Amino acid sequence: MDVPPDPDETAALLAALDLQIAWGADEALEEAPQDRTRPRAVLADPVSVPAAPAPRPVGPATRPAPAGGAVAAFAPAAARAGDLAAGADSLEALREAIAALDSPLKDTASKLVFADGVPESGLMLIGEAPGADEDRQGLPFVGVSGRLLDRMFESIGVRRAENAYLTNILPWRPPGNRTPTDAEINLFTPFVLRHIAIVRPRHLVFLGGTAAKALLRSREGITRLRGRWHSLDVPGLGPVPVLATLHPAYLLRQPSAKREAWADLRLLRRSLDRA
Ligand code: URA
Repeated sequence: MDVPPDPDETAALLAALDLQIAWGADEALEEAPQDRTRPRAVLADPVSVPAAPAPRPVGPATRPAPAGGAVAAFAPAAARAGDLAAGADSLEALREAIAALDSPLKDTASKLVFADGVPESGLMLIGEAPGADEDRQGLPFVGVSGRLLDRMFESIGVRRAENAYLTNILPWRPPGNRTPTDAEINLFTPFVLRHIAIVRPRHLVFLGGTAAKALLRSREGITRLRGRWHSLDVPGLGPVPVLATLHPAYLLRQPSAKREAWADLRLLRRSLDRA
């Protein structure tokens, strides 16, 4: 006897389909053919993913070289940032170390935005900087672009309350939501690297050009960096596979780019499935 379809399940499937259409998916084909007659684990994948590091204890942090051109006024603060970051060996200690660093951004922001999600999830997402909503709530990606981010990742089974951890390059909101300066990015980079070393993710995702260019030390724009795996050598941890993708705020301004973001997320999903 045929079992009648579950209306809730049907509604959920239709919602997922709607989302994919909104993302620009207009055909049910992958970019490369897949042999679905073979077991999943041995499917050929056109993209090679750098191996995730074997878990190991967080080692002593070495201070990363500044990514060029730190403004003179920031030099003492940058040295102190490196020392504060290196001395932190837990998330709580790192949060306190960030809060202890004086910077003009700290003076204008309301709340420190440290992180959200599940640190043990193995997946760490890194954005640019808090906006007004994040500054009010003290949590990353809780505004309009955060809601899009949540929907995007939910469509590949990734939820911040269950299996992802989120942070930003800057822990303080730049006044008026302006783009962070190179000096501000350099100042907080030691904390981000320490954050990664403490969390020990198996996969990193950089959301947007600021995170991708700062941490991959690349001059290439996000449109060139996205869509492929990179490797980030994290002091005290080792190499971690990194996927760079478009920032959700950019996708809100350029909805046609959701097609590329969707391709990136499928790449991530495939790698998560293999891990
Ligand atoms: N944009 C970001 O990059 N991070 C946030 O937390 C919010 C918006």
